[in-house]
Amino acid sequence: MIRKADPCVLVIFGASGDLTARKLIPALYEMYILGNLPEAFRVLGVSRRAKSDAQWRDELAASVREYATRWDAVRWQEFSKCIEYFPGDAAQGEMYRALADRMAAMDASAGTRGNRLFYLSVAPELYESIVQRIDEAALVTEGRRWCSIDASTRSWQRIIVEKPFGHDEESAASLNRALGRVFEEEDIYRIDHYLGKEVVQAMLVLRFANTMFEPVWNHRYIDHVQITASEKVGVGNRTGFYDQTGAIRDMIQSHLLQIFAFAAMEPPTSISAEEIRTEKIKVVRALRPTTDADVPSHGVLGQYAASAEEGAFVDLPGVAKGSTTETFAALKLHVDNWRWAGTPFYLRTGKRMAAKRTEVVVQFKRPAADLFHDIPHAAGGVRGNRLVIEIAPMQRTLLRFETKVPGMPLRMDSVEMQADLEKQFGVAAIEAYGPLLVDAMRGDQSLYKHRIEVESGWAAVMPFLDQRSVGLRRGMASNYAQGSWGPAAADDLMRRDGRAWHDD
Ligand code: BG6
Repeated sequence: MIRKADPCVLVIFGASGDLTARKLIPALYEMYILGNLPEAFRVLGVSRRAKSDAQWRDELAASVREYATRWDAVRWQEFSKCIEYFPGDAAQGEMYRALADRMAAMDASAGTRGNRLFYLSVAPELYESIVQRIDEAALVTEGRRWCSIDASTRSWQRIIVEKPFGHDEESAASLNRALGRVFEEEDIYRIDHYLGKEVVQAMLVLRFANTMFEPVWNHRYIDHVQITASEKVGVGNRTGFYDQTGAIRDMIQSHLLQIFAFAAMEPPTSISAEEIRTEKIKVVRALRPTTDADVPSHGVLGQYAASAEEGAFVDLPGVAKGSTTETFAALKLHVDNWRWAGTPFYLRTGKRMAAKRTEVVVQFKRPAADLFHDIPHAAGGVRGNRLVIEIAPMQRTLLRFETKVPGMPLRMDSVEMQADLEKQFGVAAIEAYGPLLVDAMRGDQSLYKHRIEVESGWAAVMPFLDQRSVGLRRGMASNYAQGSWGPAAADDLMRRDGRAWHDD
């Protein structure tokens, strides 16, 4: 049975930020419209700027209008009553007493029962100190004292931590330790909005609710898997942040490795959070460490060049002169387990590319014997089946197979079967953050990352980030044109393996 979301106060640190206005509040509003929020629910936004509840609500109304998939002024009026603002500096310990009083007042007026969902949407360097201040102000009572003998009425305190979760393996481990000193692992929610995307979850159903995929989902039948997240947009106004971060940290270590985990994991014994996370942890840990000798041939980094309209990445204000931060990365990773021995996974992401496309391409091997080698084929020959799980811009699954062209003489072609989830079910995609936030209110961690997953993910990409990647970064500046599919070297990486990216 699906548990309902518990009454609670959602405390957003970093309330004036972009994420709150563009994603969190629109997502909560959508959840309200769809009836998924608890009846007793309050949002308390914490930020330094002084403003009243009414001022903040007005600002948010404008962004919900712009970013939510639905807008209804009357419903917004109803929903916005649960939003309040708290001016304060999260770095100052004194603030937390007043914050505690404000939350207690909400419990009394709204019935939120002492349940707190803290959301860290601030600069990552503030994470550890906020967690410490929460502890010093004794805002976490769960596990320390019982508010009631009856577990169903006991209050809880949970924390959602935004990415980037650390900037390398060591800093991620340090952040995990800091969180672990204050919160139990079951109360720590490391968010990755890609896990809230419908199709990522649909992959679980596709793989494990059908009999036809799982038996062939291994190295015997699958030649390789490609995971692409390309974007047409650039880095927007986050130039300083992005210059410190780059494509591997921003997209691969987080989002793409999560998609990878769903595509590559073993079947869990149930769909409980614990079982799913156990399998994801196992497969991320099974990623083979890339040796120093393999780094040059297993990775390609790129930086976009100037176009007629736009300067190059290095020309952006806020980007260090001569920066070697990558705006494109393609990595080849191997999984050391029985299922995937010899089947590589190629992960690719980039800014200012030819198209916005997020997808998993499962390329099957060609048939063991080609009976039709002398039959004309529109594509030049049997190509092996291909399953494309498209996450964006459309939510659909495409299966390519070979067929006979009607008529005589015998001729062949490849055709594609398509399942378009939006068309099929008539339900438009919802903002990924919404279901994730509701899951945290329900205490369901299935779509959140475990400590070990995050640290193992860092370990897998570190060879492409530290001094071992110096060679890859040499001469990388402006090595791909805006609006292209990335540097030529990324095509060479595939060509050397007798493969090609799915760019058509
Ligand atoms: C964010 C990255 O996590 O994901 C951004 O920081 C990126 O750089 C974004 O643009 C992509 O998300 P989506 O949902 O648009 O694919």
